[in-house]
Amino acid sequence: MFNESICQEHYRLRLRVAEAVPPSQPGQFVQLGCRTPNSVIDSEQLLGGELQWPRDGVCEDASGNIVHQVELVEPLALLRRPFSIAGRGDDARGTWLDVIHRVVGVGTRWLAELRGGDAVDLIGPLGNWFTLPEDKTTTLLVGGGVGLPPMFYLAEALATAHYQAIGFVGAMSHDLLAVTIADDQAPDPTGLPTMCVGEFAQLGFPAIVTTDDGTCGLHGRITDALADQLDRMTPPVRHQTVVYTCGPEPMMQTVVALCAEHDVSCQVCVEQAMACGMGTCQSCVVRIEDHEYPHAMTSNGVPWRYRLACTDGPVFDAPSIIWSS
Ligand SMILES: Cc1cc2nc3c(=O)[nH]c(=O)nc-3n(C[C@H](O)[C@H](O)[C@H](O)COP(=O)(O)OP(=O)(O)OC[C@H]3O[C@@H](n4cnc5c(N)ncnc54)[C@H](O)[C@@H]3O)c2cc1C
Ligand code: FES
Repeated sequence: MFNESICQEHYRLRLRVAEAVPPSQPGQFVQLGCRTPNSVIDSEQLLGGELQWPRDGVCEDASGNIVHQVELVEPLALLRRPFSIAGRGDDARGTWLDVIHRVVGVGTRWLAELRGGDAVDLIGPLGNWFTLPEDKTTTLLVGGGVGLPPMFYLAEALATAHYQAIGFVGAMSHDLLAVTIADDQAPDPTGLPTMCVGEFAQLGFPAIVTTDDGTCGLHGRITDALADQLDRMTPPVRHQTVVYTCGPEPMMQTVVALCAEHDVSCQVCVEQAMACGMGTCQSCVVRIEDHEYPHAMTSNGVPWRYRLACTDGPVFDAPSIIWSS
């Protein structure tokens, strides 16, 4: 296992799983316990008693025993956190899974401190996955921020299945690009695909990089580069193209709108906030167009039904998603 810094806020975490991991597909995710696995709450110890918590952080129960629950003295990620599978390998020692995580809160701060030999609680693979339509030959992989990791795993599957692909990598600035920029191939400042991103180039796929502040690649948004690429395609090429996207919701909404405008099929991996990750808590609902068993209608008369991002998704066919805004 290793945990290496990729840029200012992203880490690549490789997890070695001793047991055989069930087969996984691009788009699927794992739930990681982002705290020391044995720090379970000893609720028995708390039953029936009130605790006074002194300022020095050491607390005793009525019998004078020291209470050790770290969740009571410092911020702790109680629930597991979902992360897309960014890569996978199987060998004689078992399976390794790659996760690329951005430090945004208590759980990912804990993950960032992990070192080789540390143990992590993991459940997965979970959720559904991207499909590779047989009538398509060209694929555009559009990832923004923490939506990039599933694109790397997908790129491997596409290379194996002999599809062509172009990676689209967007970030706010150079320091936040969670990719390896090649030493000898700078990203094209006009938005043309080059072999500039190591994760795609090693599979033979070119990529386009955009940054909001212009510090790397095209100055602009990833959707500007996608619009340009779709405009350049002839109708027959568009017909053979599928766009896969994952990232912030406004970015994905624009990607979906561009695909609809250019008549290109599109699959979306939503990163809806989740709790259980396995269909129990109902916290991850998304509205999906459904003519058979609708829950309600949109204001413009589209019937929809709630689906769970964790078990029905996270991948959905783009036109079926009813966005919340
Ligand atoms: C299916 C799926 C796949 C994901 N894949 C990745 C991945 O590959 N790499 C990665 O870095 N992150 C990924 N995420 C997001 C990741 O799960 C959250 O960043 C993580 O749970 C934050 O945990 P935390 O304890 O550090 O932050 P918290 O302390 O829980 O939250 C910090 C801040 O982040 C916000 N936040 C937390 N989760 C989300 C979310 N899902 N969407 C928007 N805002 C959120 C909170 O509202 C809060 O403002 C994925 C999420 C889903 C649902
Ligand atoms: S996260 Fe619990 S039902 Fe989806």
